[in-house]
Amino acid sequence: MYGASVDEVKQDGAEDPQKLAEFEARIARGEKIEPGDWMPADYRKQLIRMISQHAHSEIVGMLPEGAWITRAPSLKRKLILLAKVQDEAGHGQYLYHAAETLGISREEMVDMLLTGAAKYSNIFNYPTLNWADIGTIGWLVDGAAIMNQTMLARCSYGPYSRAMVRICMEENFHKKQGQEQVILLSQGTPEQRKMMQDAITRWWWPTLMMFGPHDTDSPNSPLLVRWGIKTRSNDELRQDFVNQMAPDLMALGLTLPDPDLKYNEASGNWEFGEIDWDEFWRVVKGDGPLNADRMAARRKAHEDGQWVREALAAYAEKQQALN
Ligand code: 3HC
Repeated sequence: MYGASVDEVKQDGAEDPQKLAEFEARIARGEKIEPGDWMPADYRKQLIRMISQHAHSEIVGMLPEGAWITRAPSLKRKLILLAKVQDEAGHGQYLYHAAETLGISREEMVDMLLTGAAKYSNIFNYPTLNWADIGTIGWLVDGAAIMNQTMLARCSYGPYSRAMVRICMEENFHKKQGQEQVILLSQGTPEQRKMMQDAITRWWWPTLMMFGPHDTDSPNSPLLVRWGIKTRSNDELRQDFVNQMAPDLMALGLTLPDPDLKYNEASGNWEFGEIDWDEFWRVVKGDGPLNADRMAARRKAHEDGQWVREALAAYAEKQQALN
């Protein structure tokens, strides 16, 4: 099963209504589906799509912050950022492995990213212009990711949900270090406050876009919800995020770039304006501020690593010959 491509993975009884009914009863009982269990072909394909794109997001997500490791304002900040970027690499490996349990190979997934056939999160196509962006990414971007990933920790597919438990623990450190930096800069000198406000203004809306299209425009959601992969909707998670972040950021004297933002006493929600979905789809489809740079960097890293893959393959072959 491992290493086979999705098309090669045989589905016995995929159209068998009895098997599907048994599968859906397991989902309804809250059971975890494991790699060797029977699953509908579309369950497998949706998970491969989602988990591999999640892994791509973690790996590409190392680029915006990685650019600032050599320019951190102190040794402490450099060490923290180093640890965070290393964590993201580990999250990517974890998630690629979770996707491999569904029968797709690492090579296929990486090829899909490098050829543009697969997506990664919109958020990583924006530039990190100064150090205030690093705190903003930690608190807002990782905060949004935690909101989504905490939901995925309850996902019906065992390997994905277990990966989320470990990843969320590390993300919480990422979020806390970001929050500390935003608080420091927002209470700092006038120049620091100005830099912090500019970063929040630039990152607020792209972060809301991370949660995906509105539920009514989310083609994958119905199946993902039916089979327990998603247990909350894109809009529900987005609303929770705004409810959590808006008061905290405004309490620091920061202004959010949304004139429609207002608290609704009756619902207890912070109502907010409409997302620029043209920008969202432009970025998702590859025409964002830094999509080309991010993909060029990933392709170069892959090419530069070719000799390592060849050396490992040669070593494995030699070992096999010796055994
Ligand atoms: N960025 C890029 N593409 C997106 C997107 C986003 N923010 N939101 C949606 N899309 C794409 C979907 O991939 C889908 O395209 P596809 O069918 O070709 O894959 C299309 O837009 C329609 O969207 P749907 O709502 O139907 O798609 P989903 O139901 O998959 O919802 C999602 C999108 C909420 C991102 C969901 O896929 C998900 O929860 N994924 C797992 C979590 C994840 O990938 N998070 C990314 C961030 S990881 C991160 O931030 C790292 C951290 O360390 C900072």
